[in-house]
Amino acid sequence: MSVVLFVDKIENLRELYAFEVEAITDLHVLEFDTVEEARGFFRENGENISLVVCDQDLDSGIGQNLYEDVLKRDERIPFIVLADRSSQYPWGEGWSSLRPANCLITRPVGVDAFLENVRHLLKCFNEKERDNVDYCKVSLDRFKYFNSVPFDVFLELGGENKIKILSTGDLYDEAFLNKYKNRGLSYFFIPEKDYMTFRKLIFDYLISEMQRTKSFGKPFVEKLALKEELLKITHDEVIAMGIDRSLAESLHAVVEEGLDEIASIPDLAVMLKKFLTEDNFLVKHSILVSYFAGALAHGMRWSSRQTLRKLTMASFLHDIYLEGDELAKINDFESEEFQSLNKREQELVKGHSLKMAMLIRKNTAIVADVDHIVQDHHEKPDGNGFPRGLKASQIFPLACLFILAEEFVFHLYNQKVTSDLLDGLLEKIKQVYRTGSFKGMISSCERLIESMRENLQR
Ligand SMILES: [Fe+2]
Ligand SMILES: [Fe+2]
Repeated sequence: MSVVLFVDKIENLRELYAFEVEAITDLHVLEFDTVEEARGFFRENGENISLVVCDQDLDSGIGQNLYEDVLKRDERIPFIVLADRSSQYPWGEGWSSLRPANCLITRPVGVDAFLENVRHLLKCFNEKERDNVDYCKVSLDRFKYFNSVPFDVFLELGGENKIKILSTGDLYDEAFLNKYKNRGLSYFFIPEKDYMTFRKLIFDYLISEMQRTKSFGKPFVEKLALKEELLKITHDEVIAMGIDRSLAESLHAVVEEGLDEIASIPDLAVMLKKFLTEDNFLVKHSILVSYFAGALAHGMRWSSRQTLRKLTMASFLHDIYLEGDELAKINDFESEEFQSLNKREQELVKGHSLKMAMLIRKNTAIVADVDHIVQDHHEKPDGNGFPRGLKASQIFPLACLFILAEEFVFHLYNQKVTSDLLDGLLEKIKQVYRTGSFKGMISSCERLIESMRENLQR
């Protein structure tokens, strides 16, 4: 397979372009942080290179060495320079007219415009675009940001034969990807019609990553007026409940990031700020759900940053329309608790999940699936939940995990966590949640409970 060398110090940006080039061509993109690394590879493997893309490191003169290496090897190899508008062009503007295979692209450049240039150069140099237009190839590495994708995923067996390895929404973990990697596979295939969907997922993820790293280090408490105390106390409580200290530390970071992310979405920031400052009980409930959902996801090995992000955002948004954590507990309209509420509170309970899900759906800045988790968080495995009364098999899988996390919180919160209490929780889970997607999560609940028990005994 022919190779594209892609040198750019901004990893996420590089990956955006690489994803597109791989999807439209038969080429394999190799990414490098520095020109020197790329030169090292080129010296050894120059014969397979079909295109070089290099960022403005060329300014420093080091990139010129790579350019000269390329010319020495084969002067037909196309060479794209990505230059910032603000910087001086390397070797003057005349460089791009030195030979037809030179191309200067000034940033910021849209991905489509970038691809147009790539297409043009490849056509000039006899590299074909992919013949098979029914499927796009996508590097296995792009799947690691997610634990499920909203379309089928295939494997190429040789020739044009493909087999389906994931159906829409199937959950997978890193071990699943590694299994194929260890067999020497680099690509999965997705139906061409789903390419734009995946493109949006990847873009949303990588761009939010770039924003996150940019704003990294700013204390979220400043932006949110959340009582820092409350977060600290809840963190200590989670450890006292028996959750592993190191796991709790890493989940703490996820909670901070989740809050930061919600705070960056103007519509939600206002609601969240009000929520965080007014209702300590529900905030605490949200933080606890976030920790337990994260802990269960770890147990299932669904702890990609994207999945944890979804669960944390859902934790902070799911009950935001409620008033007081007593309302959050109600799962049954026949129950005494529900019957004793006034009309307005009853309507609030009945409508809060759907209302929030609809608000999230309208907001394209929120990562996919959070709406489904929020919408389904009061569904029950026996079909008696709300708002839709879904059967266990119809409940969104990540919502199932979220519902189990809530079960942990309701059972353990404000109690002295003992071995007996944990036994009771496990028994209930085994009895009530043995159907649909819940079933496969029971062992993760069991492992979490076991490790909590061990930590408590220490
Ligand atoms: Fe709720
Ligand atoms: Fe809740």
